[in-house]
Amino acid sequence: MKKQNLTLTIDATKATSKVSPLHYGLMTEEINYSYDGGLYAELIRNRAFLNDAKNPAHWSSVGGATLMLDTEGPVNTALPKSLKVECMAPSLGVANDGYWGFPITSSTSYKASFFVRGSVGALTLTLQSRDGKTIYAKTRVPAVGEGWIKRTATLKTGNVAPTTDAVFTITTEKPGTLWLSLVSLFPPTWNNRPNGFRRDLMQLLVDLKPAFLRFPGGNYLEGNTIAERFDWKKTIGPIETRPGHMCPWGYRSTDGMGLLEFLLWCEDMGAEPVLGVYAGYSLRGEFVKPGPDLEPYIQEALEEIEYITGSVSTKWGAQRAKDGHPKPFNLQYVEVGNEDFFDRSGSYDGRFAQFFDAIKAKYPHLKVVSTVGNEQPASKRVKSRTPDALDEHYYRKAADFIRDSPTHFDRYDRKGPEIFVGEWGAHEEIAPWLPPSRSLPATPSMKAALGDAAFMTAMERHSDFVTMQCYAPLFVNINPGGRQWRPDLIGYDALRSYGAPSYYALKLFSTSVGDELLKVSLTGAPLLASVTRQSKTGKLFVKYVNPGETPQAVSIQLMGVKSVKSEATVTMLAAPPDETNSMEKPTQVVSKTVKISGVKPEFAYTFPPHSITLIQLET
Ligand code: AHR
Repeated sequence: MKKQNLTLTIDATKATSKVSPLHYGLMTEEINYSYDGGLYAELIRNRAFLNDAKNPAHWSSVGGATLMLDTEGPVNTALPKSLKVECMAPSLGVANDGYWGFPITSSTSYKASFFVRGSVGALTLTLQSRDGKTIYAKTRVPAVGEGWIKRTATLKTGNVAPTTDAVFTITTEKPGTLWLSLVSLFPPTWNNRPNGFRRDLMQLLVDLKPAFLRFPGGNYLEGNTIAERFDWKKTIGPIETRPGHMCPWGYRSTDGMGLLEFLLWCEDMGAEPVLGVYAGYSLRGEFVKPGPDLEPYIQEALEEIEYITGSVSTKWGAQRAKDGHPKPFNLQYVEVGNEDFFDRSGSYDGRFAQFFDAIKAKYPHLKVVSTVGNEQPASKRVKSRTPDALDEHYYRKAADFIRDSPTHFDRYDRKGPEIFVGEWGAHEEIAPWLPPSRSLPATPSMKAALGDAAFMTAMERHSDFVTMQCYAPLFVNINPGGRQWRPDLIGYDALRSYGAPSYYALKLFSTSVGDELLKVSLTGAPLLASVTRQSKTGKLFVKYVNPGETPQAVSIQLMGVKSVKSEATVTMLAAPPDETNSMEKPTQVVSKTVKISGVKPEFAYTFPPHSITLIQLET
């Protein structure tokens, strides 16, 4: 195979600028069953019986019991329906099929809780195989009576082979009528948090060392209508007081993953929240006119900021303390809406200005982000105020990222608003919003990872003013019907999870970055590289992407270094473009780390075809 001969020059004489400490982060929303059926560890699907107005979806009869939704005498107004179960004989009851099954593993304790009434004797809870032949865990709960009572129980498995082939059942000791409300079951969670997060998914995220988390959307922030926006006040407090709401991706959200859970999630990852506030525009075009009509939404946002950052002496800070977290969270950025370039009414400039002024008046230190970036027509951008940052979204073909990345940010005004690339991701060929993409695997192949990495070199090279960036979407439940968008970074079912090649590309970039930017240039090919330096140690992080099918023999020249250690660490992700990871082959494409020697201020290195490489040099 013919090699290309190239020269990569790294000027280490003087850093050109600082790398933003928040550069690498995560973006999240309820899409693809990201929380319910994903990160949020709740295992019971349709726990509040609100998913379907007529039927108890995901619940079925055990032994011929009759099931119906009941609106009589609910637990409270947030739980307007219960499941009425008529058991004509002993040992009848109900089964829940979970989010495409349940994660059954050995010696695991599952915590159940539910509201119940009815004179049916003691209740038996099980986790059992769908055919009922294998009982994985079983426990008995004492009899209840006519009034609602909350019961809790623990089910513990013995030595079992891991499986998702399971249902959760509740059966009665005696014939009679039983009512159930908010039936919940949690496996062990990350940091053992009650109402917490799935451990394997958290581990994948923590391993990326994200500096921030952009939440709660995305489209999920906006909702299809104003009534279906992310109405944060309805997402806090005990889960039995959260009514949940319809999410714009076609299913109902429990809101078990509420505002406080987002913040705890940040805390657990050592990341900072980047808050999107609802800004008076929803996806189907409903909008709120700037002026007095918008005032209630401005207040809603100010109170949300107070809930996050206020001391316990403030109204909403006190509420946060009551909810279990007296310590305020650190917040620097507030984003006003999401993708408001879709708002054809032309109201964004006015809406943004009203939010901007109100936020700055009460919280002058906060940076306020506009959702219309330079990638949108100038006519759509905010003009009446100068946003502190612009959120730009890039969903592009890998080949387009590769072509554009060498120069993309060169035309930007470095002194202009910061750039927050709040959503980006490469697809191989077919755009996410086109129907043929539905027949492709949920997670992308190495081809997309090469495009992602190319774009990351561009963002990192400009990470003084591209202060934050985050791939989207983060999660996908790979079961049939679980996905609304591809490609996604992390795939899972009830039991297992894996990262796409793009996950490993991101990890290679986000976990090895210095605090100073160095000037880098390449002769002989377009520049798909970036170099940062750790000022304390002098360590250089050289990132280089070779997207082509020809090896690239590169002479690496370090200018302005007195010495360089002859041994260096090389981490590389390399694979043919069609190769990918999947549930069956979760680690087919992962990075490998090796040591190389013979490094000098001028040394040769050959980057293999279709590769993403990190070289760590000690200077
Ligand atoms: O990431 C998927 C969707 O893409 C987001 O919800 C939206 O902001 C964008 O259009």
